[in-house]
Amino acid sequence: MCLITGASSGIGVGIAECMVKAGWKKLVLVARRKQNLEDVAKECKQAGAKEVLVLAKDLSDLSACAQAGKETIEHFGSKSIT
Ligand SMILES: NC(=O)c1ccc[n+]([C@@H]2O[C@H](COP(=O)([O-])OP(=O)(O)OC[C@H]3O[C@@H](n4cnc5c(N)ncnc54)[C@H](OP(=O)(O)O)[C@@H]3O)[C@@H](O)[C@H]2O)c1
Repeated sequence: MCLITGASSGIGVGIAECMVKAGWKKLVLVARRKQNLEDVAKECKQAGAKEVLVLAKDLSDLSACAQAGKETIEHFGSKSIT
């Protein structure tokens, strides 16, 4: 799976699009604006992603970073995060 921070706008959206084009099927999208993330997730699925986890987190908060990792592992059942 591929975890992308800053995925609600700008470069992060571009990276998400590129990863889907490159064949990644499982993505985690992280930023604060949940609706933007949901919109990006929808676009990723339309482009071929199978599973997209949206995590609305403020990553300036270290505990939120840890929580994002925890929720990702819980969701995908793997510690292999790229
Ligand atoms: N665009 C360029 O050409 C360019 C060139 C060189 C360098 N850069 C640098 O690359 C970075 C990204 O640029 P961009 O154009 O993609 O900017 P952007 O459109 O403003 O995207 C920033 C991303 O970071 C997220 N973010 C910001 N603070 C956050 C926080 N506390 N917690 C979680 N997510 C946070 C934002 O999402 P939320 O607001 O939803 O949290 C958004 O998804 C910037 O530092 C910019 O200076 C950009």
